[in-house]
Amino acid sequence: MSRILTGIQSTGKQHLGNILGAIKPLIELSNQPQHEAFAFVADFHSLTTVRNAEELKESTKNAVAVWIACGFDHHKNTIYLQSDVPEVAELTWYLSCFTPFPMLSNAHSFKDKSSRRNEVNAGLFTYPVLMAADIIGYDANFVPVGKDQVQHLEMTRDIAQSFNHLYGETFVIPEAKVDENVKVVPGTDGQKMSKSYGNIINIFLSEKELKKQIGTIITDSTPLEEPKNPDTCNVYALYRLMATADQQIEMRNKYQAGGYGYGHAKAELLELIVNYFSKERETYNRLMENEDELNTILLEGAKKARPVISKVMNRVRGKLGYRTM
Ligand code: ADP
Ligand code: TRP
Repeated sequence: MSRILTGIQSTGKQHLGNILGAIKPLIELSNQPQHEAFAFVADFHSLTTVRNAEELKESTKNAVAVWIACGFDHHKNTIYLQSDVPEVAELTWYLSCFTPFPMLSNAHSFKDKSSRRNEVNAGLFTYPVLMAADIIGYDANFVPVGKDQVQHLEMTRDIAQSFNHLYGETFVIPEAKVDENVKVVPGTDGQKMSKSYGNIINIFLSEKELKKQIGTIITDSTPLEEPKNPDTCNVYALYRLMATADQQIEMRNKYQAGGYGYGHAKAELLELIVNYFSKERETYNRLMENEDELNTILLEGAKKARPVISKVMNRVRGKLGYRTM
């Protein structure tokens, strides 16, 4: 049994790209019997940028609802809030005393974030240490991440290895799991879908709002009567990601026959998304209306997570010369 662990960023809404590219594949992995998955909302990390309690709460709630709605099995696996298990902050302090300053100064993501902000706080700088504590505090074996997080994983391994070297075997050395075959979901403008490009499709919107979002997909100006090329069309590029083989052939034929407009294709895409994600949409809406249910799930998750990190903390405190608890 190996433990996979992943931190979920709570800021911003999860879009079709995140869901098909990261969330669904990870949930599939977590459902395999040989894996135990820990997924947590990195709400301590959010404090490096968020300055509003309501915003923090709302985005946390949304992130958890999306994960459960997309099929994360919180009975088999564990989902929790980083801030519900504050031991991780204590571990961050210990690890920060083993983290070379130049290593943090060289982090790409710090350089990138600090160059784009007026206010650069120390939390932004020590972000990777908290991330290391998230991972090695839970004896994680594998950490599925996008390419942008690989350097953070290398730092985590370095910190853990140097601690183990000085104090003897204490931490499990985690491995990053980067999925090279991840399909890139295009956005409404044909570029990679991303919150930062403003080209997302949010599958949890009401049908009316979703219709509006789909309406913004950019198409060419081929007149309705003329044949069209599905392979260069942004609507079809999204449709094929969710459609069955038969549905794909059928839509291709309609494009090629002519007399079929982009408005028709968009209406079919809307119908497909609503059907394909009908269970997810229903669960999401139920959970967003039902804070108690979400809180119960999260408190149960924290109850499962806490003994795991407590055991690691005792190992660390003992090694460092502090009282164990
Ligand atoms: P964004 O680009 O919207 O800020 P993130 O960088 O937070 O998204 O990505 C979170 C996860 O979702 C990453 O693992 C990333 O690989 C995946 N992901 C994001 N956008 C897409 C996309 N358009 N297609 C496939 N996967 C994506
Ligand atoms: N830094 C990660 C991101 O931006 C989120 C994160 C925080 C994380 N702690 C983690 C990811 C631990 C994996 C493991 O996406």
